[in-house]
Amino acid sequence: MGAEVVIRTENLSKVYKRLFKKGKKALDSLTISVPKGAVYGFLGPNGAGKTTTIKILMDLIKASSGSAYVLGKPSYNVEVKGYIGFLPDAPAFSPQLSAYEFLNICGKLLKIPSTERAARIEHVLEVVKMSPHTREKIGSFSRGMLQRIGVAQAILNQPQLLILDEPLLGLDPYGRQEFKQIILSQQAKGTSVFFSSHILSDVEEICDHVAILNNGKLLCAGRVDDLLGSSGFRVIIPPNNDEVLKELITMASDTSRKDDGTWLLSFAQDDEIRGKVDSITCKASGSIKVKAAHEKLEDFFFRTLKEDNN
Ligand SMILES: Nc1ncnc2c1ncn2[C@@H]1O[C@H](COP(=O)(O)OP(=O)(O)OP(=O)(O)O)[C@@H](O)[C@H]1O
Ligand SMILES: [Mg+2]
Repeated sequence: MGAEVVIRTENLSKVYKRLFKKGKKALDSLTISVPKGAVYGFLGPNGAGKTTTIKILMDLIKASSGSAYVLGKPSYNVEVKGYIGFLPDAPAFSPQLSAYEFLNICGKLLKIPSTERAARIEHVLEVVKMSPHTREKIGSFSRGMLQRIGVAQAILNQPQLLILDEPLLGLDPYGRQEFKQIILSQQAKGTSVFFSSHILSDVEEICDHVAILNNGKLLCAGRVDDLLGSSGFRVIIPPNNDEVLKELITMASDTSRKDDGTWLLSFAQDDEIRGKVDSITCKASGSIKVKAAHEKLEDFFFRTLKEDNN
């Protein structure tokens, strides 16, 4: 299933029919492309049309007009489903099943051979930090734990493309941090990721592309660095990298620490500083990211919506 563009919509529109009322136009001529290998944030206020788009991509509902392609095939193609990991916005789990039993059923549906299934299930439960709860009933899980099980089933089939509807919902700061690491490690393995979210600081941290929707219409889409402009650069340091932090923090022009323990250091555009920072970060763990500095995504998001609402 090779395709340079993993998701493509062309003039995609959806009108929900309503009894005795004019239909509700939830999506209005949406055209977007998600490049292979991207971590793509799909943004917009409540009711913007994100879930509607995702449901069309997963062929759970039909578009009223326009087209949608996933991994180079029309979204209704059945074969393509085997290469996609999906987390719906409101996943329904059978409460009486244990985490293992649920994932075993998912594995059977995905036709993962029985010889491989147990090892894969153990691996994904470890990835989402749910190994201690393997045999516990899903009905006893908290919202964040359910979300982790949802992510575990989405990555069970080692998909080429992950489509996740609000995967950060219900996760505590540790869970969000772990989720971001999961996404970046999936990307490192070559998986493309398309997800909706309202947590703009997390989106900014891990997404290389974003699209912003409002009232079913696309306001903008593209590479984060292009959309937000750049001056200087930033380094994002996950928790437990104290040595690197100590070395870099004295050179930074601005520093901030997020509630999950991640540090954001900003640096002025200066070749000498950049050289030093690069030599320190390249020796450190791969999870430390160096990015162009720019307007915060949150500021850009509100500015873009304000301009649209005016
Ligand atoms: N089944 C439905 N029948 C009628 N209208 C619907 C239906 N599902 C969604 N809508 C409407 O379509 C619009 C887009 O909804 P959608 O769920 O796609 O938004 P969203 O961007 O996912 O929002 P949120 O951030 O709240 O999840 C909303 O106005 C919503 O009321
Ligand atoms: Mg939604």
